[in-house]
This record gives sequence, C-alpha cells and structure tokens, in this order.
Amino acid sequence: MPNPSLQVTADHLLKQIEAPVLAPQRGEVLLQIKATGICSSDVHFWKSGRIGSLVFEDDCILGHEASGVVLKVGEGVNDLKTGDRVAVEPGVPCGLCFMCADGRYNLCADVKFSGVYPYHGTMQRYKTHPAHWVHRLPDNVSYAEGALLEPLSVVMNGIRSAGLSLGRGVAICGAGPIGLIALAAARASGSHPLVITDIEPRRLAFAKEFVPSCVTYQVNTQLDAEGNGRAIQKLFGSDEYFAPETVLECTGVETSVCTAAYAVRRGGTVMAIGVGRAIMNNLPFMHISLAEIKLKFINRYRDTWPSSIACLSGGILDLKRLVSHTFPLEQAKDALELVSDTRNGSIKVLVVDEVEATL
Ligand SMILES: NC(=O)c1ccc[n+]([C@@H]2O[C@H](COP(=O)([O-])OP(=O)(O)OC[C@H]3O[C@@H](n4cnc5c(N)ncnc54)[C@H](O)[C@@H]3O)[C@@H](O)[C@H]2O)c1
Ligand SMILES: [Zn+2]
Ligand SMILES: [Zn+2]
Repeated sequence: MPNPSLQVTADHLLKQIEAPVLAPQRGEVLLQIKATGICSSDVHFWKSGRIGSLVFEDDCILGHEASGVVLKVGEGVNDLKTGDRVAVEPGVPCGLCFMCADGRYNLCADVKFSGVYPYHGTMQRYKTHPAHWVHRLPDNVSYAEGALLEPLSVVMNGIRSAGLSLGRGVAICGAGPIGLIALAAARASGSHPLVITDIEPRRLAFAKEFVPSCVTYQVNTQLDAEGNGRAIQKLFGSDEYFAPETVLECTGVETSVCTAAYAVRRGGTVMAIGVGRAIMNNLPFMHISLAEIKLKFINRYRDTWPSSIACLSGGILDLKRLVSHTFPLEQAKDALELVSDTRNGSIKVLVVDEVEATL
C-alpha cells in the first residue's frame, strides 16, 4: 500500500508525496498512524522554516500529536504486538546525558523529535518508532483522543509544576487548544473560580461552552498589561486575597505574559506554558520581585502519557469536543491551510487515516 505523507520543504512549501515504508529496526514498531493533531508549531515550521534553533534545512514530514495501530514489531519488542492501539510520545531522548540520567529527559539536547527536521513526523501512513516511546491505549480511548494526549501532556507538565489547589482561583491566558485543555484540567483539579482570557471572542465563546463554570475575559487592547491584569483580578473579587494564586499563561505573547504577572496575586505563580519571542524586554521585573511571584517554565513533558491516558479513560477529562475539523491523510495539506487562517474558527484539526493498511 502507498505511504502518502505531508512534507515541509526548506523553501516553505507543503508537498503531498509518497514516502518510503521503513522496516522496524531492533526495539522499534511499525505503526499505521491513525490520527495526527495539527499544532500551531506545524504552521510555524511551514511558514517560517524555524522555531528558535530548530530549522527545517530540507524536506521533512510534519506531525507530532499522534496515535496509531501496531502493524509489525521489530526484534526484541516483547510487550507490544500487531493490532495494539497506541499513542506516540514523539520525543525520543538519548538516555545517556546528565538530564536523561536525572529523569528530566524532556531537556535532553539530543532528543529525536518526530516532525522536527531531520526527524520525520506522523503525517504519513507508515511510521517506525521506538516501542519504548509508544503507550498502549485502553479500548475506551479513541484514536482522536490518543492524538490529544500530546497537548494534554504539555498541560499536565505545567499543572504538575504549578501545583494547583482545591478551591483556589486560577486564570488562564489564551483559549487556543493548550489554554482550553488547561482550563478543563484546572477545573478537574478542583481549581475555582476560573477565568480564561483571549483577544478573539469566538474562542472565548467556545471556552464558555466547554467549561460552563468559567468566566471569560476579552483582553482590552486599549489597556496596558497592568490595566488588563487588574481587570482580571477584579473578576475574582474586590479583595486581592481572592485573586488567582496561579496563572497559566498559554499564549506566549509578551503583553499576555506581562498581564499574567499583574493578574496573579502576590506570592503566586505564573506558569509560562506558551512560547514566544526569544527576548522579552517588557517584563515587569520589579513587580515580580516585590510581589515574590514565581515565574516558572516548562519545556514539553516527561512521564505524562500514563496519567494523561488515565484522565481520558477514567472520565476525568473529556477533550473530544476540541476536535473541530477532520481531514483524511490524503488532504493533509488542506488541514494545514485551514489551521493557518485563524478566521476559520478551528480549534483542533485532525488528520486521520481510515483505511485499513496492510504491509
Ligand atoms: N512549552 C511547551 O512545551 C509548549 C508545547 C506546546 C505548545 N506550546 C505553546 O503554547 C501556546 C499555546 O498553544 P496553542 O496551540 O493553544 O496556540 P494557539 O495559537 O492556537 O492559541 C493561542 C491563543 O492565544 C490568543 N491570544 C493571542 N494574543 C493574546 C493576548 N494578548 N491575550 C490573550 N490571548 C491572546 C489567541 O487568540 C489564541 O486563541 C503557543 O505559544 C505554543 O507554542 C508550548
Ligand atoms: Zn504541538
Ligand atoms: Zn539525553
């Protein structure tokens, strides 16, 4: 059977072409990828060819939010078999460096990350992947949900590190897929009240439907970061005591990071999940210092798939409604184009492969 794939070229074009089908090496499985979620970073790699030091120097298959079915196992793979449904953990760390030794494998400098040049991603029918870095899916978790485990993993890492508390207020900046998952995860963690911000009213309307107990705040572009931060605080009550103990920043936009620093109560935590410009010059340094605000960061995830699977399988989180559009693998290019235009009102767009692949 052919192996259609979606590739980004070094000169910022999208190509839908046949890719080779590789045999699984020792310790690997050959998967049929059944679903891949499209991420804002995929669009970024296509349009600008880079994110920070990650540069697309040649053709590379996109895709890192994926699930699939095992078609064949390589030598030495004993705990998986043909027909197993799995989610893909896309980053394969070296296992040898000091960060890997410390269990912080997400900080490995030698990670081979699917969908980031030169490592081909999951927007293809047949992909090999180390068996250690796939996670078996329970029967009640669909392939679509399996693909959502990757953005959920990002949020899981942020929430773990921020440490949310029952009955404490949380604000979430940005109602894209990451912010929306953070909203649902904060709700499931017992945080209350919840305020979510965006500049785009349609995204806020979706957030309100998705987690009805939340309050939405449309960022006022006439106000500065402090003005917006104070307005967000007021939604929690007139006394700063009730202001959010944690702000989950899910935009990576500089003004929003500054707003988060003014929205959090003194002594609280701003968890920067969003990523943005290399240098941010306008950080309110003295405010953060005097208020002893903990400004924390996460880089992707480590050891988050098992607990993310448990959340979906155990009914703690229902993320299915985030999928706004679905395209067959052969039309993956149209899916990327849809995501690249924010006016289309998409939330999470999936590329799926319904055919039953054979070898
Ligand atoms: N740290 C990590 O490991 C990691 C992993 C995955 C994604 N991310 C980052 O998380 C962020 C969110 O991802 P996403 O897929 O939801 O992206 P997205 O672009 O779909 O969503 C971002 C949302 O922020 C809103 N926004 C823009 N400016 C704003 C402002 N000033 N105030 C409030 N809202 C504003 C946008 O309208 C949009 O709805 C991105 O920066 C992404 O790169 C980080
Ligand atoms: Zn992503
Ligand atoms: Zn390493």
